[in-house]
Amino acid sequence: MARRKKIYEGKAKILYEGPEPGTLVQYFKDDATAFNAEKHDVVDGKGVLNNRLSEYFMTGLNNIGVPTHFLRRINMREQLIKSVEIIPLEIVVRNVAAGSISKRLGLDEGSPLPRPIVEFYFKDDGLGDPMVSEEHILAFGWASQQDLDDIVALALRVNDFMSGIMMGVGIRLVDFKIEVGRIWEGDFMRLVVADEISPDSCRLWDVSTGQKLDKDVFRRDLGNLADAYTEVARRLGVLPRNTASVGKPTLIN
Ligand SMILES: Nc1ncnc2c1ncn2[C@@H]1O[C@H](COP(=O)(O)OP(=O)(O)O)[C@@H](O)[C@H]1O
Ligand SMILES: [Mg+2]
Repeated sequence: MARRKKIYEGKAKILYEGPEPGTLVQYFKDDATAFNAEKHDVVDGKGVLNNRLSEYFMTGLNNIGVPTHFLRRINMREQLIKSVEIIPLEIVVRNVAAGSISKRLGLDEGSPLPRPIVEFYFKDDGLGDPMVSEEHILAFGWASQQDLDDIVALALRVNDFMSGIMMGVGIRLVDFKIEVGRIWEGDFMRLVVADEISPDSCRLWDVSTGQKLDKDVFRRDLGNLADAYTEVARRLGVLPRNTASVGKPTLIN
């Protein structure tokens, strides 16, 4: 049997050629990285959880008319997606100050922002994903003004959807990152949400205790990352029924 073609291997996922033209298979690894991959670890079960959670969020977005690359989940670690031309930006939406905005502007972590704030970072690991303004994006031609308007609108719709879903299970959506890609349909181009939406790409705080349920658990050594993600999945009701299957395969005598 022919081995399928690997298109790209990143820090958290692998992309393989899909079964039909215009599709890819996205494989979720267990690798956790932070601080531009300076910190790295393997967290058993993380890939399975993120595959499930990203499926859950992207399906919900598709259902309310926010276009995403997600087609269907294939198995525990893989999903079928539409192949897109990724816009080289990380689009961040913030509701509450945390992380780099707290440092940059001297805001206490946890202070609410006056309104959701959308930020852009140039997606380049070599440069450490530097923050850029609309001016840079337009001047260097990464996106047009129309694209930017559409990207901001998409990002805010994702924010409203995700905030509501999370608040329903007692979790505050502090901030998140998305990637957006272009899909060409003849002469027409559409922008869709791509990559993943998971606790790797969001900050999620328990509403009553403030407990962190996202990648900061790994960045700041606050405990077991898989336990935190499992808690998010459990509250949303998207945990695989047999939780034991999340870990390493176990031999049954
Ligand atoms: N639908 C898609 N089509 C093409 N590329 C995609 C799509 N969704 C995500 N990608 C890209 O695939 C890669 C996913 O792997 P990841 O491990 O996150 O990589 P990285 O280390 O570059 O962040 C990212 O570079 C992301 O931009
Ligand atoms: Mg990535």
